[in-house]
Amino acid sequence: MRFDIISIFPNIFDSYFNESIIKRAQKRKLIKINIHDLRDYTQDRHKTVDDKPYGGGFGMVLMVKPIQKAVQAIKKPRRKVGIPTQKASGKRKVILLSAKGRKFDQRMAKRFSKLDQLIIISGRYEGVDERVAKYIADQEISIGDYVLTGGEVPAMVMVDAVTRLIPGVITKGSLEQESFPQYTRPESIKINNKQRKVPRVLLSGNHKKIEQWQEKHVKIFK
Ligand code: ADE
Repeated sequence: MRFDIISIFPNIFDSYFNESIIKRAQKRKLIKINIHDLRDYTQDRHKTVDDKPYGGGFGMVLMVKPIQKAVQAIKKPRRKVGIPTQKASGKRKVILLSAKGRKFDQRMAKRFSKLDQLIIISGRYEGVDERVAKYIADQEISIGDYVLTGGEVPAMVMVDAVTRLIPGVITKGSLEQESFPQYTRPESIKINNKQRKVPRVLLSGNHKKIEQWQEKHVKIFK
């Protein structure tokens, strides 16, 4: 699976994608992440990516042209980079991240994990020319009902949620058991002057009882 992220702050992604599970998934070639600087797709000397909104209002709006050029370039099959030519038009989606999009959830993450390529456009909170949402992106997605300064953190959220669902990235057991409360040593610890203990059932060795307890406390993501 290949992720192509278009952003005006390409350096934001460096540390997160180069640690832990996401780093290992890239090393093992289960995923490939390409970061594209939107300014590389501008045509003027100043590398302009935004302009004032028609109709007036605050802030600046990301222009459609550089985004269109970036998406076109990423979609263009090239033998030497990324996925092989014959797969370049395989199962892929272009996503625009913005606070007004459809809410991202586990079900969406699962669907995306079966694609060959996700092209992710990180917007910015002042706005993106609406023609990107209408005619360039397949879907406009929000990671939650709050407004962030840009789509970079949402892009990392999406890549993370999708990557861990790709076969081989994490062990199957941790995929399934993620969602109920867990405890480890010590059995008892003083917190704010009270001894706080691990639920007794988990120490009982009674697997049937433990399973029942876990089922009762599980949160299932579908
Ligand atoms: N850009 C700004 N806020 C956002 C959000 N909640 N989700 C996705 N992109 C955003």
